[in-house]
Amino acid sequence: MPKKSRILSDPKSREYGYDKAYKLAYRLAGEQLAQIKDVKAQCLKAGAGYSQAKQLITLDYLNQSALISLPDIEISLLDSEEPVPIREKILLLHYLISAKGIPLSNQMITYKELPGGANYFPSFAGRAIKPLLDYFGREPYRLIEVAKKLGGVSTQCGDAAVTFKALPRVPVTLVLWGGDDEFPPRGSIVFDRSITDYLATEDVNVLCETIVWSLVKSVGNNPGQGIKDKLDGILACYSNDKSDLIPILQEIQEAFGYLPREAMQAVARFLRLADSTVYGTATFYTQFKLKPGGRRRIMVCRGTACHACGGVRILSETEKQLGIKSGETAADQSNSLETIACLGACSLAPVMMVNHSIYGRLKAAKVKQILKEAK
Ligand code: FES
Repeated sequence: MPKKSRILSDPKSREYGYDKAYKLAYRLAGEQLAQIKDVKAQCLKAGAGYSQAKQLITLDYLNQSALISLPDIEISLLDSEEPVPIREKILLLHYLISAKGIPLSNQMITYKELPGGANYFPSFAGRAIKPLLDYFGREPYRLIEVAKKLGGVSTQCGDAAVTFKALPRVPVTLVLWGGDDEFPPRGSIVFDRSITDYLATEDVNVLCETIVWSLVKSVGNNPGQGIKDKLDGILACYSNDKSDLIPILQEIQEAFGYLPREAMQAVARFLRLADSTVYGTATFYTQFKLKPGGRRRIMVCRGTACHACGGVRILSETEKQLGIKSGETAADQSNSLETIACLGACSLAPVMMVNHSIYGRLKAAKVKQILKEAK
């Protein structure tokens, strides 16, 4: 058996395994489509076009037209040389096969309300919600701007929301709440209840991931424009005096919640300092964060007074409850945990802080309840 476990742990073998699985899924989906007797009727249910003479299905897909030729089941994009990734080919075939022709219900549901959605949610959150927040959470208005290029339409929801007609009968809405001084940004992706009549939950995962990464790629054409605009506003208030480095970094952190790499580079150019000087200053002071934090920022004091009153137990209980170590952010960006030298409330030791609320005279047994209730 050692031989078997060695093969499984080899990443190339895993890739090969996925590749094989996708090819098999694609073949099976193609066979299912080929077995449909009345292709025209099925295309009507899916909102797709069908030309019997050309043996060709035309399917609108994310602001493009996918062409599916029969009987060989070749899939390409109209007016594009770009190949369709196999996961998306499978998604398109699954949609065509499963479509029931049910009209929109106009009732919105979240991912967790899909069949098995609660179980798949951690993977969905990591693959679709996290990149959405990483790239647009701090500047929700940019989502609308970028989505327009991909056929997304602005919708009244949250601080910024866009709806994509992802497939003819499947709208997908991305929603962002930009957060404020107390709360970091949040995001969600919602669907019409009828989506279950068109796609399985795994396919919804693939679809949302594809939409979000198309948006991210589109941002990549113009990286950090939003950051640049904000930065210009901050730097306009300063001269090129090198002694302003720390106040500038503090203002940037205030504006973004952390120090984006592009911002540090711009500050270096503005003050005529080496990038390494700015980066070295940012890493020297614990007040500066180089990565976006979680929606809740939790700080446990490790100062002398708190240490003497059991601060270590508070920290280890907090780590246990959150499932992350000090200095880490949860994968779903719900919480980030850090330690601090003194929270300035030594008379209440041991102390922790959740966003802007201080909790003092703590006992390890109280931590769970605090984390449950604190906003
Ligand atoms: S040592 Fe903890 S608040 Fe001062």
